[in-house]
Amino acid sequence: MKFTVFAAATAALCALATTSVAEPQAEVLHWWTSGGEAKSVAVLQQEFKDAGGTWTDMPVAGGGGDAAMTALRARVLSGNAPAAVQLKGPAIQEWYEEGVLSDISAVAEENGWADVLPEAIANHMKCEGHWCAAPVNVHRVDWIWANKKILEDNGIAMPTTWDEFNAAAEKLKAAGITPLAHGGQAWQDATVFETVVLGLGGAEFFQKALVDLDPEALGSDTMKAVFDQMRLLRGDVDANFSGRDWNLATAMVMNGEAAFQIMGDWAKGEFLAAGKVPGEDFLCASTPGEGYLYNVDSFAMFDVDGEDKEAGQALLAKLIVGPSFQKVFNLNKGSIPVRTDVSLDDFDMCAHTSSEEMASSSENGSLLPSYAHGMALRGAQSGAITDVVTAHFNSDMSSDDAVKMLVDAVAAVQ
Ligand code: BGC
Repeated sequence: MKFTVFAAATAALCALATTSVAEPQAEVLHWWTSGGEAKSVAVLQQEFKDAGGTWTDMPVAGGGGDAAMTALRARVLSGNAPAAVQLKGPAIQEWYEEGVLSDISAVAEENGWADVLPEAIANHMKCEGHWCAAPVNVHRVDWIWANKKILEDNGIAMPTTWDEFNAAAEKLKAAGITPLAHGGQAWQDATVFETVVLGLGGAEFFQKALVDLDPEALGSDTMKAVFDQMRLLRGDVDANFSGRDWNLATAMVMNGEAAFQIMGDWAKGEFLAAGKVPGEDFLCASTPGEGYLYNVDSFAMFDVDGEDKEAGQALLAKLIVGPSFQKVFNLNKGSIPVRTDVSLDDFDMCAHTSSEEMASSSENGSLLPSYAHGMALRGAQSGAITDVVTAHFNSDMSSDDAVKMLVDAVAAVQ
């Protein structure tokens, strides 16, 4: 009896001594390189480090993530995918279909994700019934940011219709002020375009045109009116807009070089990182019209070899959806937590507006996925639309021609 106990204890000790505990490691590909973004991703790096992990950073600069996605394709093709990748919307399912994503259901189930995530968002994180991505936040795309002092000095209120916006822009131009800070990059053109589609067409039209790709909606008079408005907006930007990064456009509003920017609430992360206060230095409001365009950042884990890397992926996924990261990260990033149980007490007025309007738009059917930020369509389809939007914005193409081109471009990728 004694001998048996001794033998069992010795065997257990030997097992302990020989089992090496995997040290979590992760190479993380992301495109968070602006001031506010870098401050936000540093929160995740720190939490990962504090939990014993080793983080290898792979930042790929370029707003909207186009350059990051090109880098990802090259890495996967060479058989050397990073462990964790900032990936979102239908691109998650596209990569899963390629057979290169890990199933992270074990982490999701252990941490009760289904109980704390809204169902619509959870669905974006699933591939054939398995959890295949971890959600970070909810960004709202349809925001307009303004320099408070410029508006006050010029007797302008935050516009609630596109006509009001156009009138404000004329007034500002007459006073020698650039109305709209914009960066002429395709994804930024697309960002502005989708807010105009929502504003002028309404939620049902947005759904038909940019989610269902209904040819009638794409070729409609409403879509012509959207391109007319885009033409007016083209007249509201400064001469050096071409190629400008989005955060430099935000800085123009901050520094009083332009009155407005139309951009998702990662722009708020820039204002905050620069010490600016909402309601005092800058104003936030939804772009004219009803509805809410959501953009959920998330991370997917790619198939990698090695216990340390797998441990790193599991740890990262757990931290990302964890309540502490959700709060601190989103305070910096400008977005709101994706978990429904994180208090917004420490968040600012723009975050409160976002949360309230997300709830009300979800109830009235106007909560919609952003096409410009990869939440609504597959890559080829959104790319076809963006090509037309940017070609129109950067030429003197008529709205009639733009609409024809849009219908043809979408038909070619159906
Ligand atoms: C991402 C944001 C990011 C922004 C600018 C968006 O597509 O969702 O997290 O800050 O692009 O790079």
